[in-house]
Amino acid sequence: MEDLLKSIELCKNTDELEKLKVFVFGKKGAITAEFAKLKDLEGDEKKEKAKILNEFKEKFNLEFDAKFAELKEKEIKEAELKDAFNFTYFDLNATKGAFHPIMSTMDKIIDYFTRMNFSLEEGPIIEDDFHNFEALNLPKFHPARDMQDTFYFANSLLLRTQTSPVQIRTMQNTKPPIRMIAPGAVFRRDFDMTHTPMFHQIEMLVVEPNNNVSFANLKSILEEFLKYMFGDVKVRFRPSFFPFTEPSAEVDISCVFCNCKGCRVCKNTGYIEVMGCGMVHPAVFNNVGYKNCSGYAFGLGVERFAMLIHKIPDLRSLFEGDKRLLEQFK
Ligand code: DAH
Repeated sequence: MEDLLKSIELCKNTDELEKLKVFVFGKKGAITAEFAKLKDLEGDEKKEKAKILNEFKEKFNLEFDAKFAELKEKEIKEAELKDAFNFTYFDLNATKGAFHPIMSTMDKIIDYFTRMNFSLEEGPIIEDDFHNFEALNLPKFHPARDMQDTFYFANSLLLRTQTSPVQIRTMQNTKPPIRMIAPGAVFRRDFDMTHTPMFHQIEMLVVEPNNNVSFANLKSILEEFLKYMFGDVKVRFRPSFFPFTEPSAEVDISCVFCNCKGCRVCKNTGYIEVMGCGMVHPAVFNNVGYKNCSGYAFGLGVERFAMLIHKIPDLRSLFEGDKRLLEQFK
């Protein structure tokens, strides 16, 4: 009988337990047979045997019930786990995420300007011809549109080629003074080592009533900003042309690869172009109904900044999702 009690412990599931119970107390069970034999006994012997059997039965049932409860609980848990995702499981080998270099560069620039009280503006990625070109003093058939060929929809809609239309939208919705930046994706029909059909720009615009701001303000803001981004670089302004600014300039920094000595990246010029800027053209103010205002603006390519900061040679690699590149930015 001791063996039968030990068998309870050995059962691995409730099925085995039930079978054991049938084996012991079922119709043809081992102990059932012992109880049946009692009728052939008499007197003290019968009493003695009955006592032993009843005590065994009681003990067996107690141990059986405890084991049954234990196994049942385990089986319910196992059934639940089978279907459910285990949220308590922590995989120490799981890879941790990190910001993409474009996003972290963008965040750094946004952070810089929002701390100086610039507002953060947004515009639609599917833009209309008026905001993307016309209002920025780029009428139809203007040769400067050539550099910004893009993807067109019906009804004069297009994938915006620059973040400059957000200047127009912001001026249409607010009165001066304005201090804004507008980050976002832009699109062009380009593809080579330094151009992808989708890339990111950040636009900056300051407008003041009357002639309160000048090119000197723009220069000093940009020098501060570029030193914040690239460290101790030289900053150079080159006269240029943008239809929406007059005068316009392109801004170069001393080459971060060769420190002005001349290398392949800066094409031996010692300088690298990082953005376009200028004083807002009167025609642009006219197009949004602003009178007696002065302002300055710039537009920069975020990928270009990220490439220079992290010394990434091929712009396209930023969009290939290659883990070997991305893992370096954890
Ligand atoms: N939108 C111009 C481009 O994509 C960049 C630019 C130049 C923006 C001068 C400006 C600016 O705001 O003043 O090429």
